[in-house]
Amino acid sequence: MPRRISDDIISKICDENDIIDYVSGYVQLKKSGRDYSGLCPFHNEKTPSFHVSQEKQLFHCFGCGASGNLVQFVMKTENLDFVDALKLLADRAGIIIPEDGDNFSDKNHEKKKKILAMNKYAARFFYDCLKDNGAGEKGRAYFAQRHIPMKTVTVYGLGYAPNGRDLLIKHLTSKGFSVDEIVEGGLAVSRDGRIYDKFRDRVMFPIIDVRGNVIGFGGRIMNDNKDVNGFKIPKYLNSPETLVFDKGKNLFSLNLAKNAKSSEIILCEGYMDVISVYQAGIKNIVATLGTAITEQQAKLMLRYASEILICYDSDEAGTKAAIRAIDIINNVGGRARVIRLKNAKDPDEFINKNGIEKFRETVKKAMPATEFKISLIKNQYDITDTEGKILFIDEVVNVFTKLKDAVEIDAYITKVAEDTGINRDAILSKYREKTSKNTYRKIPAKNEYQKKAEQRKRNNVKEFKATGSLIEAEKRLIGLISQSKKLYKITSLSMQPEDFSTDVYRRLAKMIFDSYKEDVSPDPAMMLNDFHGDDISEASEVFYNLEIYSGDEATVKELLHTIKLEKLDIRINTETNVSILTELFQEREKMLSEKNTWEE
Ligand code: UTP
Ligand code: MN
Repeated sequence: MPRRISDDIISKICDENDIIDYVSGYVQLKKSGRDYSGLCPFHNEKTPSFHVSQEKQLFHCFGCGASGNLVQFVMKTENLDFVDALKLLADRAGIIIPEDGDNFSDKNHEKKKKILAMNKYAARFFYDCLKDNGAGEKGRAYFAQRHIPMKTVTVYGLGYAPNGRDLLIKHLTSKGFSVDEIVEGGLAVSRDGRIYDKFRDRVMFPIIDVRGNVIGFGGRIMNDNKDVNGFKIPKYLNSPETLVFDKGKNLFSLNLAKNAKSSEIILCEGYMDVISVYQAGIKNIVATLGTAITEQQAKLMLRYASEILICYDSDEAGTKAAIRAIDIINNVGGRARVIRLKNAKDPDEFINKNGIEKFRETVKKAMPATEFKISLIKNQYDITDTEGKILFIDEVVNVFTKLKDAVEIDAYITKVAEDTGINRDAILSKYREKTSKNTYRKIPAKNEYQKKAEQRKRNNVKEFKATGSLIEAEKRLIGLISQSKKLYKITSLSMQPEDFSTDVYRRLAKMIFDSYKEDVSPDPAMMLNDFHGDDISEASEVFYNLEIYSGDEATVKELLHTIKLEKLDIRINTETNVSILTELFQEREKMLSEKNTWEE
């Protein structure tokens, strides 16, 4: 469930950010008439058809149809969801959005802000240290050895934590942070009454969230198998969980991957894997933060892509983790496939050995999750042997019980029957036996899909098909009533929100009607916040063309008449009963003559 942010806060955020001010950061805007215009950032064009209205706080492109309010502009340009776009704008205006569900402002807000600021200073410090001729040499040599050029270092903001007890602590205290704050932010540790820098003599990987905040770090030693007094020190050290860093809720490089706007996201295990693949040109790749994937992370990826391609290490641990990842992704309703690397332990090694083209080919061959699971089970048994077949089928059927799609289950049962030569019905009854034991998982009724399709078909035949002129008239009508209570009142005498022909119009009309009933003027930019996807343009257009729609009572009457007439015509065109048809024609005649009288 997306977090619900109260309308008060949404409207405060919208009030304190100006659309012209924000959009100017993306588009060179020139004043043209009442609007501003420029080259559309959403399609390629040579002459400006992108308009922004300061008065309405809306944008609209007459070329590609992109349209919406400021929040929606941020969503599109930054590829963020509604809540994150609002947060970005809130941050920009210094507004505090209350935490999940509660209506009080976040008690920890100040502390969080402080840690984020501290992290930013630390990232800068590590980066500067890496560039430093003396101290940074070691880090630069390490990245060079791992085939990471300076260009990539800059993209990821990689760095080097120098070898000293408290170099970062000194730097941060000089910026005004207290030692306690530095410990709370996870950048220093206290041991035996002394405070140390958490990261010392390591190359540093900042972890950045989708809003561009540095939320934590991973630091890698540069010399594998290094012992300290006989203790093996960890290869990677990560920031501890802090007020701003939750390892189960974030992903490395999602801030960059989301901009690839691909329908797939590749999920791998390591920071280095992500960086290698990204710099080779495949940007839709992320990694977990040293822990197993959580449902929250799966959901987070699915906000930006519809399918996850799991690319874990090729060892046994990686394979097991891949199976768990499939289940977690499926649990939250996502699809997964598995990329299998041959002759390399992880994506980084694979690319360094075989090059990016080979990697691309391997990605293309990613296996559907179920096929992957079946293939692993197959490896464990000899299915040429009768006993092997029985055990194989028993395990494979366990996999089927986790599937939800009846068609998929059916297809795999057929395939396994073919592969093993065991009768299809026998496998099916085994499957039924297992599913009936899990009472919560009923056997999916195959004909349910068919039923739905037929239902839809039936509905489509009857579905009310709005004509172009009907839509146009309703669009103008909504535009008009949004600006005038008087015009709303006239309209409400003969039309209700549910009488409009599209879902978007019905919703808009309802908001406008409700607004007037509460005696407040409708706010177009605010109303748009309730729309998603293609609906945004449909809704926004209604308000954007207001100038051309300037109208009064006569226009509204005319529009209401047109709407009624168009609807009547639709009924006439679909009615098959002769006597009803006659009545409809009579009604039409009457309407036309009425119009003639009030036009005279
Ligand atoms: P790997 O051991 O697979 O490392 O750990 P890697 O990514 O291939 O790193 P390189 O190539 O040796 O540099 C995968 C991930 O597990 C976490 C890190 O997030 C790492 O990227 N990890 C690993 C730790 O948190 N601590 C460790 O000591 C090791
Ligand atoms: Mn590796």
